[in-house]
Amino acid sequence: KRVAVLFGGASQEHDVSVVSAHQLMDAADVRGIEVIPVYTDFENRFFSAQTLRDIRRFKPKPSGAPEVIFSWSERGPVMRERASLNETPIDCVLPVFHGPFGEDGRLQGHFELLGIPVTGFSAGSSAMAMRKDATKALVRLAGVNVLDHVTANRARLADTAALIAEVEAKFGFPTIVKPANLGSSIGVGLAKTAADLPALVAYVLAQDNLAIIEPQVQNLVEYNIAMRWDEERQEVKFSAIERPKSGAELLDFKEKYLSSGGGTKGAFLPSEGMLSLTRDINPDLSPAFKATIHDYARRAFMTLGHRGAPRIDFMSNSATGEIWFNEINAIPGSYGFFLWEAAEQPLLFPELIDHLVSEALR
Ligand code: DAL
Ligand code: MG
Repeated sequence: KRVAVLFGGASQEHDVSVVSAHQLMDAADVRGIEVIPVYTDFENRFFSAQTLRDIRRFKPKPSGAPEVIFSWSERGPVMRERASLNETPIDCVLPVFHGPFGEDGRLQGHFELLGIPVTGFSAGSSAMAMRKDATKALVRLAGVNVLDHVTANRARLADTAALIAEVEAKFGFPTIVKPANLGSSIGVGLAKTAADLPALVAYVLAQDNLAIIEPQVQNLVEYNIAMRWDEERQEVKFSAIERPKSGAELLDFKEKYLSSGGGTKGAFLPSEGMLSLTRDINPDLSPAFKATIHDYARRAFMTLGHRGAPRIDFMSNSATGEIWFNEINAIPGSYGFFLWEAAEQPLLFPELIDHLVSEALR
C-alpha cells in the first residue's frame, strides 16, 4: 500500500503533529507500508519530498519539496506536483494533524469530496469531536457523565457581569477556562475567583472563537484511553489506560510537550516531545472503575464515530471516585501507540497503521 502521511498544518499544535507523524512514518517503514510524507504549511498548502522524512533537517518552510495537490485520475487517487504535473498514485491519505483544519473535519471533507480514502474519523465526526461543548452534549445524551459548562464567545465579553452570574448560578468558582477547539492544553487557565474570569476568557478568545468554562475538579486525576473498532468481531477494542502524572496545578503545553531533556520550542525531536510526560500505564484500578471507563469510552466512541483510533480523556476526583468524560482526540498525539503497545492484547504501531489503512480502504 502507498500511503500519503499528512502532517504540520495551520494549527498551534503544528509542532506536535510533526513529531506524531514522524513516529508513525518510522513505524510504517517497519511494516513495509510505503509512506509518502506530505508536509502542510501554515497556509494549508501541501509539499512532498522524501527529504521531509528527516526530522533533524525538517524546516517549517520546506525548501526543495515541490507543492502537490491531490486528485483522481483514471488510475485512481493521485498526488500531483503542481509545477510539473508528475503523478504518484496513492491508496489513501493518513492525516496526522492535531487541532483546527487537520483534525476538525475540514481536511477530511476535502478528501471526501475528491473521493480519496482517508483514515480515521469522517469530516462530520471530526467536526463534532473538535468542538468540546458539542461533544459533551452528544455524549451526555448517550449516558456518559460530563461536567456542566458555560460557553462564552466574544459578544459575551461585553457583559462579563452576566457571564460571571451564569457561572455562579451553575457551579461557582474556582473554574477552568479553555478553548472549545484546541488541544494540547493550549490556552487553559484557572480562575480562582470571579475576578480572574474576564481576562482568562479574553485570553482564550484571542486564540479560539469559543471559550468553555467548567468547574475545577478537586483532587484531579486524569485517565486516558484509546479505542478502535474491530470489524471482524464487531466490537470496540481498548488500549491500555494511562494516568498522566503532574506536580503542577495544570498540565500546560510546555510541561506536556517541551519539558525535560532540554527541549526547546520548535525542536521536533520525539524523545523530548510528548513521551517525556510522566505517566502511569495500566494504573491499578478497581474492576468497577475500569468498567466505567470502558463503558463511557464505548458509548462516546459509538456516538461520535466508530472509526480510526481516537483517544478519550477523562477527569476524576480521586477522593470521591467520580469520573467525567473530558474530551475526545480524533487524532491523538503519536496516535496513542504507547497505549496500544501496553494493551491487554498488544497492538504494535505498525499494526495500528495497518488497521487505520485497511479501515479506510474498506
Ligand atoms: N491534542 C494532543 C496531541 C493530544 O491530546 O494527544
Ligand atoms: Mg487532551
